[in-house]
Amino acid sequence: MTIVPERQAWRPENIVGRRVVLRRHRADNLGAFLRWYSNPQIAHLTRYQQAPLSTEEVRRFFYSRVMGSDFLAMAIHIRDTERLIGTCAFSQLDGDNGSTLFHITIGEPDAWGQGYGTEAAELMLAHAFTRLALHRVALTVFAFNERAIRSYEKCGFVVEGRAREAIFRDGRFWDEIHMSVLASEWQERNRRL
Ligand SMILES: CC(C)(COP(=O)(O)OP(=O)(O)OC[C@H]1O[C@@H](n2cnc3c(N)ncnc32)[C@H](O)[C@@H]1OP(=O)(O)O)[C@@H](O)C(=O)NCCC(=O)NCCS
Repeated sequence: MTIVPERQAWRPENIVGRRVVLRRHRADNLGAFLRWYSNPQIAHLTRYQQAPLSTEEVRRFFYSRVMGSDFLAMAIHIRDTERLIGTCAFSQLDGDNGSTLFHITIGEPDAWGQGYGTEAAELMLAHAFTRLALHRVALTVFAFNERAIRSYEKCGFVVEGRAREAIFRDGRFWDEIHMSVLASEWQERNRRL
C-alpha cells in the first residue's frame, strides 16, 4: 500500500523521544492489548465499568479503533530496549475546530511512575501542535487517578471543569475531571522551557 505524504505526516511511522519512542501499532500488538485490558487495575483507572473489557471487546477496540483510520493511535516503546509498554491516541479529531481528545494507557504496571507516560504525552502534544496544527487537546480523568492528573499537569494540561460525582469507585463518588491544553499555552510553555 502506498501512503500519501500528507497521511504519513499525520500518522508518522515513529515519533522519537529521549526515553520512549512512539511507533505505529502493528497487528501483533493485539496480544499485549488483550493482556493490558484484562487487568482489573487498568479497568479501575480507565473505565466507568468495574469489570475489565472482555476478550471480544478488546479485539473489537483494537481492530476498529487502534488500527482504524479515524483514531490516531501510537504504541509506546522504551527506546533503549524496544519493549512495548503502552498505547496513546487522539480520538474525535475535529478539523473544523482544531481539537481532539487524548488517551493514554501504560499497560505494563511495572513501567508506571517512571516518566514514560509523561514523555509519551509530551510527544503527542508536540505532534498535535506542530504537524497537526491543532488548536486544543482535551482529556478526561477520574479524580482518584492522582498519578495521571499529575502527569497531565506536568505536560501543561489545566483543569477546565468537572463532571461532579460521575463515577462510583471504592465505596464513594468521584468527579470526572476535564483538562485541556491550547496551542498558545503549549507554545508559551515551550518558549519558557
Ligand atoms: C497515567 C500514566 C500515563 C502516567 O504516566 P507515568 O509515566 O506513570 O507518570 P510519571 O512517572 O511521569 O509520574 C507522573 C507524576 O505522578 C507522580 N506519581 C507517581 N506515582 C504516583 C502515585 N501512585 N500517586 C500519585 N502520584 C504519583 C510522580 O511522582 C510524577 O510526579 P512528579 O514528577 O512531580 O514527582 C501511566 O501511569 C498510566 O498509563 N497508568 C495506567 C492507566 C491510566 O491511568 N491511564 C490514564 C487514564 S486517564
